[in-house]
Amino acid sequence: MRARTAVIPAAGMGTRFLPATKAVPKELLPIIDTPALQLIIDEAAGAGFDHVVVVTSHAKPAIEAYFEPNPEVIAKLRSTGRGALADSLERTARDVRVTFAYQDEALGLGHAVGCARDAVGDEPFAVMLPDEIMGDSSLLAQMADVSEATGGSVVGLKHVPRDEVSSYGVIDPVGDLDEHGVVRVRTLVEKPAVDDAPSDLIIIGRYLLTPDVFDKIARVRPGAGGEIQLTDALRMQADEGPFHGVLRDVRRYDTGNPLGWLTAVVDLALDDPRIGDAFRDWLQHRL
Ligand code: G1P
Repeated sequence: MRARTAVIPAAGMGTRFLPATKAVPKELLPIIDTPALQLIIDEAAGAGFDHVVVVTSHAKPAIEAYFEPNPEVIAKLRSTGRGALADSLERTARDVRVTFAYQDEALGLGHAVGCARDAVGDEPFAVMLPDEIMGDSSLLAQMADVSEATGGSVVGLKHVPRDEVSSYGVIDPVGDLDEHGVVRVRTLVEKPAVDDAPSDLIIIGRYLLTPDVFDKIARVRPGAGGEIQLTDALRMQADEGPFHGVLRDVRRYDTGNPLGWLTAVVDLALDDPRIGDAFRDWLQHRL
């Protein structure tokens, strides 16, 4: 069965973006003019997903407000000749159904995913961390293909310098990547010491998971950082059956901190047909 639902954990407090995140959830900070959360939903839609579960917290009402229909704005846009913008606002609500689950305590990524259990049901699903923005939907689509073909879970991968592995989940690969960038995963470990890391292949914020992961999350005890780690539930899956990683040459931005966010905005602005040329001229002059 092919996954159709994508879970987006978005309940965090966004402390790395204070003071902005006192009032605006970090998932709604704009990349040029579009909230990061919207870009994640667009990526899911582009990979064929038609249901998104946003795991939010009751302390972040702006997340739900973003998805409220706004007929007055749409009517105003249409009456002032901005129909294309009105169409794009309406399209999201039509192509992708958005539902909400709640995580009101910061108990970790595994816990956040567990909060989406009822909304997902007994089907394979994606997890998309909204701190990471991809240039296109190709990685997620390939991961869904691999999961459908193998019947197991799949994680997105990236090589990092050895001294950075301790910030991530790290996989232990079985052999080399094949010509499609796919590798079988023997096991996974969350935030290992550099000397203990089984490879330099880290898990990035894209997962395609089979639904048995929910029972495993329920069995996970607090791990790295005292949190319920998703990686620990994934290790139980890898112990039992097929588990793969996919490395793909796709643009990726880590927007979870101010420098990464700014890098994404500048890079995407340079490619934006509406403002790219003017922005490049200004930037060249400035530098
Ligand atoms: C989480 C996961 C980690 C993964 C990372 C990717 O860590 O626990 O396995 O490598 O996302 O961004 P966090 O960034 O929440 O510490």
